[in-house]
Amino acid sequence: MSCWAVVVAAGRGERAGLGHNKVFEPVRGRTVLARCLDAFTRSGRFDGVALVLSEQEIPAFEALRGREGPFPIVRKIVPGGASRRDSVYHGLLALPEDTQLVAIHDAARPFLTDDVIDATLKSAAQFGSGVISTPVTDTIKQVLPDGSVTTPDRSALRAVQTPQAFRYDMILKAHRSAQADAFSATDDAMLFEHYYGGVKLVTAPGAQENIKLTTRADFEALAARGPADLRIGHGYDAHRLKAGRRLVLCGVEVPHDRGLDGHSDADVAVHALMDALLGALGLGDIGGHFPDSDPAYAGIDSMKLLRAVMDEVNAAGYRVGNADITIVAQKPKLAPFIPRMKQNIAGALGVSPDRVNVKATTTERMGFEGEETGISSQAVALLTRGPAN
Ligand code: CTP
Ligand code: MG
Repeated sequence: MSCWAVVVAAGRGERAGLGHNKVFEPVRGRTVLARCLDAFTRSGRFDGVALVLSEQEIPAFEALRGREGPFPIVRKIVPGGASRRDSVYHGLLALPEDTQLVAIHDAARPFLTDDVIDATLKSAAQFGSGVISTPVTDTIKQVLPDGSVTTPDRSALRAVQTPQAFRYDMILKAHRSAQADAFSATDDAMLFEHYYGGVKLVTAPGAQENIKLTTRADFEALAARGPADLRIGHGYDAHRLKAGRRLVLCGVEVPHDRGLDGHSDADVAVHALMDALLGALGLGDIGGHFPDSDPAYAGIDSMKLLRAVMDEVNAAGYRVGNADITIVAQKPKLAPFIPRMKQNIAGALGVSPDRVNVKATTTERMGFEGEETGISSQAVALLTRGPAN
């Protein structure tokens, strides 16, 4: 089923008072917008995301792509409108005609989970709409025009969030009509109710964590939270140097008279890093995951294996906090290649390059590295888990 998301990020974030659009604010090391896009990528249910941005912030997003991206899920960038409703409408108009389902989401909610997304899509496929909601815990008062106050029955009240998923043809038609009728609405469910007489509410375990960041206090509260779940792993690997082989370290081919020998491309640094990641997850080592008796791994690019390990990290709900890799080699000089190595590793780990360190050392001619018999590498990686990590 053809399924898209419209992520609206074209507001000004005035109530957050950060001096810039709140979606570009880092929250515990990753921007609000990147976290949203991560969630749509992780879900695996979407053909693409139409990201709605103020025209003047498109360069800021391109810069973010370099730092935290590249976010291939974002297949359309759409200029926003004066109101949230206009921004959503612009996003909807940009989607392919054959789109069947669309999930509309506020970029200001960065902690959406797979179960939240799935609940809305499932309902939209079945009933035409699916709007994530939670029970209300505060007692709500309604103030009437004459100033008198009434108390609606709390058990009948629900707070609604985004994502809100709909059949694409239906919500597009509702938005078209709303434009023509100048009907303003604070969310898309309200339009759907108005034109189709009702909407389906759904709930999911992750809905409690799917908070909207509105005020400065919302950001401060997140910053003040202690670390939720941290895991550390260590990895070590060594390979022999051999004539006639390529020398590949952190996915970068380094010119040298010899290369590392092994079943794969023998990228010793990536192997150490993978062992660190698997170690943090408590999942053994690369030998167990990618046995060198398996011909499928003959000559394989170790970066591919690293991406497979990252799939396991993500499947377990973790993301990388940081990683530090040491390459022990007498020769060749590696310093000129380190920026590209960092870039490669950061891309595969899905983090900004400032969360990856790659360093090289010699052993002053001692041991097998010093005698140039081989090259070794060690790595540590920290994994974090939790909605606000
Ligand atoms: N939004 C949008 N286009 C607008 C207004 C809002 O795309 N013209 C988006 C915001 O970027 C946000 C979402 O709609 O992701 C929900 O809006 P809100 O939380 O009100 O964000 P802002 O409008 O940015 O904040 P404020 O109202 O405090 O200025
Ligand atoms: Mg607003």
